[in-house]
Amino acid sequence: MERLTRSKLASYLRLLHRHRGEAGGAYDEVAAVYDDFARVWDRHIAAPALAQVTRLIEERVSPGAVVLDAGAGTGERTLAILEHSQPGNVIAFDASAAMLDVAKSKMHDPRVSFVQGDVRHLPFADNTFDMVVCTWVIEIMDDPRAVVQEFIRIIKPGGVVIYAFCSLPEGRVGNVLKYVVAKASSEESPLTHLLSKDERPFHRCEYASLTQFAGGLTTVATVGKCCTVTGKFVACRLHEPEAVLTAG
Ligand SMILES: C[S@@+](CC[C@H](N)C(=O)[O-])C[C@H]1O[C@@H](n2cnc3c(N)ncnc32)[C@H](O)[C@@H]1O
Repeated sequence: MERLTRSKLASYLRLLHRHRGEAGGAYDEVAAVYDDFARVWDRHIAAPALAQVTRLIEERVSPGAVVLDAGAGTGERTLAILEHSQPGNVIAFDASAAMLDVAKSKMHDPRVSFVQGDVRHLPFADNTFDMVVCTWVIEIMDDPRAVVQEFIRIIKPGGVVIYAFCSLPEGRVGNVLKYVVAKASSEESPLTHLLSKDERPFHRCEYASLTQFAGGLTTVATVGKCCTVTGKFVACRLHEPEAVLTAG
């Protein structure tokens, strides 16, 4: 594993004191060192959650599917989509031009295009994608539910949204962690927000799934076109037999 130098660490830790709303700009500053940190996170904490994301990609991306990697960053999930399925097109979408530049340097596949923009207001028509994959992004948004609802808007009937996020474990462990995080960062840091059970976007129905890993520190959820994740519980809007998922 490449050594994490002090200057790389300092550059990354600056994210601890940025505001969540400016997360895109903040990631421009850390793009050059992001993968060094993501590698540690992916291997030591996020591995089981990412294995679940990979399983879902393998199971749910049909050949020729149109897939959005929302908040693609340096492209690691885009690469996983290409490796574990046969999509027709993948859009790697991110607010940070510098993160996307790193992603571009890793792949030269005509099926992939790179689009800079804001996941809160996606520049895509309703019912465009077969799948949206989004890892470690919604928890840095001011309104994670609205972002997942935006993903639901752009998937086709029968499509699926797969999202992984950092979550706050329940009980005493969660309380201790909340205290430590509050001491280590600003309340609005884009790096350390852990979604509590009350904050997480989800719609409990037979077409959705939610699985926690790493003692509750990471969560992988899926929702379908029928789901509504904003506001109070709403019964599924559509009959969508193909979207039945098995919770892992
Ligand atoms: C923690 S990184 C995750 C990157 C990638 N999904 C992964 O798993 O490695 C968060 C990413 O979200 C992007 N981001 C933050 N706010 C955004 C927004 N409003 N719209 C689009 N992307 C955003 C950042 O630029 C960054 O690339």
